Amino acid sequence: MTSVLRQEASRFVFRRVTVNSEGNGKDSPALAAILRDEIAHGGPITCARFMEVALYHPELGYYERDHKTVGQRGDFYTSVSVSELFGQMLAFQFAEWLEEIANRQLPIANLQIVEAGAHDGQLAEDVLHWLQMRRPDLFARLEYWILDPSPRRQLWQRDRLNKFAPRVRWFANWGEIHQVGGVTGVIFANELLDAFPVHRLAWSVAEQQWFEWGVKTAGERFIWTRLPQLSANVAALREPAVALNNRYGELRERAWANLAPVLPDGFVLERTPRAELWWETAAQSLRIGKLLTLDYGHNLNETINPTRPTGTLRAYRNHQLVTDILADPGEQDITAHVNFAGVTLAGERAKLATIELIEQSRFLTRVAQRTMRRPASFGEWTSEQARQFQTLTHPDHLGRSFSVLLQQRA
Ligand SMILES: C[S@@+](CC[C@H](N)C(=O)[O-])C[C@H]1O[C@@H](n2cnc3c(N)ncnc32)[C@H](O)[C@@H]1O
Repeated sequence: MTSVLRQEASRFVFRRVTVNSEGNGKDSPALAAILRDEIAHGGPITCARFMEVALYHPELGYYERDHKTVGQRGDFYTSVSVSELFGQMLAFQFAEWLEEIANRQLPIANLQIVEAGAHDGQLAEDVLHWLQMRRPDLFARLEYWILDPSPRRQLWQRDRLNKFAPRVRWFANWGEIHQVGGVTGVIFANELLDAFPVHRLAWSVAEQQWFEWGVKTAGERFIWTRLPQLSANVAALREPAVALNNRYGELRERAWANLAPVLPDGFVLERTPRAELWWETAAQSLRIGKLLTLDYGHNLNETINPTRPTGTLRAYRNHQLVTDILADPGEQDITAHVNFAGVTLAGERAKLATIELIEQSRFLTRVAQRTMRRPASFGEWTSEQARQFQTLTHPDHLGRSFSVLLQQRA
C-alpha cells in the first residue's frame, strides 16, 4: 500500500500477473448507507470504526470485495506485486532461520512459517514455490500456516495454493493457533499493520491536551468532527508520547514536556492500539523463533514531528492519492504509517528480544549478499531479478519508506 511507486513506474519492472479480479470501478453505495445509518442512530463514529467498516465489512469492505486492489491494475503496489523475487528472498532467509532452530534442538517436523495478511496468497505461493524447488527436504517437513479472519479471503488463498495443499493450514485468529501449541519458526506479515483501523488524535494548544477526530455526515458526504472524549482504548494509553516513550521512562517524559509546547494547534497523530495488541498476541504465540513485519512507518524519533502536522492517514485509488479520505467508503484503500515504537514495545511486553528495526532496502541487500555467497543454494541471479531487486530497494520506490522490524524468542 504505497504511493512511492506512483511516479516513474515505467522505469522499473513489475510482476506481470497480479490478482484474480473482475476489475475496479463499481461503486458500493450500500456501504455508505450502512455507515450513514450507524451514524444516524448512534452519533459520530471514530475514524477506526469508519475504517473498519470501509475496509473489512464482510461483503462490501474494500479488502473483501473480489476486485483487484493490489498491483498494476489495482490501487497500490506492494513488494509482492512488484516481484516474485521478494518472496524468494524471504524464503531464503526463513530457511536459514528454520535450519538454525532445527540444528539447535528441534526436529524439523515441528517447524512452521506463519503468514498473516496473506490477501490473495501470492506471497505464500512465491515462498512455498521457492522452498519446494530449493529446499525440498525442509519443504517436505514444515507447515505453512495462514492467519486470516476472513472466510472469503481464505477461499482466494485456498484456490491459489491448492497445489501445496498438504503443507498449508488456515487459522482465523491467534486463539486457534494457541490451541495447537503456538508457533516454532517464523511469524511474519507484509504490509498488514498499516491496514489496521487507526484513531485520529489532534493536539489542542488552548487546552494543552489531545482530542479525537470522529466522522459524521453532512448530507450525502462524510466529514470530520471533534468527538466529546477520547475512545477508551486510546485514553488508556495516556499521553501518546508518554505511551511511546515508556522504555526510557523519565527521559522520554522530559522529551515530551519539551515537545508539547512547540506542537502546532491541530497537530495530528494516529494511534493504532489494535495493531499493538495484535502484535503482542502474535509475540505471545511464538514459542521459539522470529517475528517480523515489513511495512512503512515511523520509529520513535519520527512519530511526533512538528514539521508534519497533518498525520499520515491517507487514501489511494488507481495509484493516486485521494484528497478526501472519507469519500466512497469501500472504493479506496485507507492506510496510515505504522508506529514502530509502539509495536516494538508490544513485542517486548511479551518478552521478545528486539533484534533490529532497519530499512527494508538494507535488510534485502544483506539477504542478497548472502545469496550471492551461496549461489548453489539460491541460484545464479538473472538480469530480470537484478532489475526487480532495484525496484524493491531503490529510494524512489520501495527502498526509502519501508522498514523491517525483527524480534525473536531464542
Ligand atoms: C495491504 S494488504 C497486504 C497484502 C499482502 N500481504 C501483500 O503484501 O501484498 C493487507 C491484507 O491484510 C488483511 N488483514 C487485515 N486485517 C487482518 C488481520 N487481523 N489478520 C489477518 N489479515 C488481515 C487485509 O484484508 C489485506 O488482505
